[in-house]
Amino acid sequence: MRFDVFTLLPETLNPYLSASILEKASARGLIEVHLHNIRDYTHDRHHTTDDTPYGGGGGMVMKPEPVFEAVETVLGSPPVCPVILLTPQGRLFDQKIAIELASHPQIALISGRYEGFDERIRQNLVTDEISIGDYVLTGGELPALILIDAVSRLLPGVLGDPTGAVDDSHGLGLLEYPHYTRPTEFRGQRVPEVLLSGDHAKIEAWRREQSLRRTLAKRPDMLEKAELTAADKKILQKIRQEER
Ligand code: ADE
Repeated sequence: MRFDVFTLLPETLNPYLSASILEKASARGLIEVHLHNIRDYTHDRHHTTDDTPYGGGGGMVMKPEPVFEAVETVLGSPPVCPVILLTPQGRLFDQKIAIELASHPQIALISGRYEGFDERIRQNLVTDEISIGDYVLTGGELPALILIDAVSRLLPGVLGDPTGAVDDSHGLGLLEYPHYTRPTEFRGQRVPEVLLSGDHAKIEAWRREQSLRRTLAKRPDMLEKAELTAADKKILQKIRQEER
C-alpha cells in the first residue's frame, strides 16, 4: 500500500517511519511512504504557503495554490485515490475507518499547519476529512503518522503474528481481555487458572467475558456499536445483575 503525505514538515515524520515496524514493512515492500514538502510547490521568492484570512481575524490560512499543485503533480488531476485532509473537523478516526482505508492500494494525506486551510482545498481537492480526536494539535503530522500506523498494521505480513490484527477485528468494538505471560506467580498474584488449563474453549469463553466486563466498566459507550451475539448479551445481563 502506498501513502503520499503532503506536509510543510516532512522531516518530522521520518524518525518514526524509520524506526518501527513501519520501517520493516517498507523494507519488505509491504508499504511505501512518500513525503512531499508543500513548500516545494511555491513559486514566489519567499516560498509562501500561508496568508492572512479574508475578513480579518487572527491566525494564518494555508494557501490553496501550493496544496493543489503538490497533490496534482504527484497524483494527477483529479487524483484517483482518496485524498484525506487531517483536521479536528473530520470524522473521528477509529478501527473501522482504519479497516476501510486499508482496502485501498493508495491514499494521500494532507497535514496542515496554521489556523486552517483555505476552504477551496476542502471543497475541490479533498475527498475525506479525518480527525484523530477531539483536541487540537499544532499540525496534522502526528495524525498522519497515527493513521499510517493503524492502517499499515492491518496489511497482510506487516505484523509478525498474523493473528494479531485478526484478533482485533474479532473483538471489533470491544476492549481487549487481560493478557498474562510467565511467571505464573508474581508478587503473590497468580495468573488466572483457566489460562493454564489448556482447555481452549474455556479460555475463549473466559476471554470473551473479560472483554465484555472491561468494556462495560471502562467504555460502556462502545457496547452500543459493538457486534454482540445472543451469548454476549446474556453475559452482559449476568454482569449487570451481579452489580445490583
Ligand atoms: N490537526 C490538528 N489537530 C488535529 C486532530 N485532532 N486530528 C487531525 N488533524 C489535526
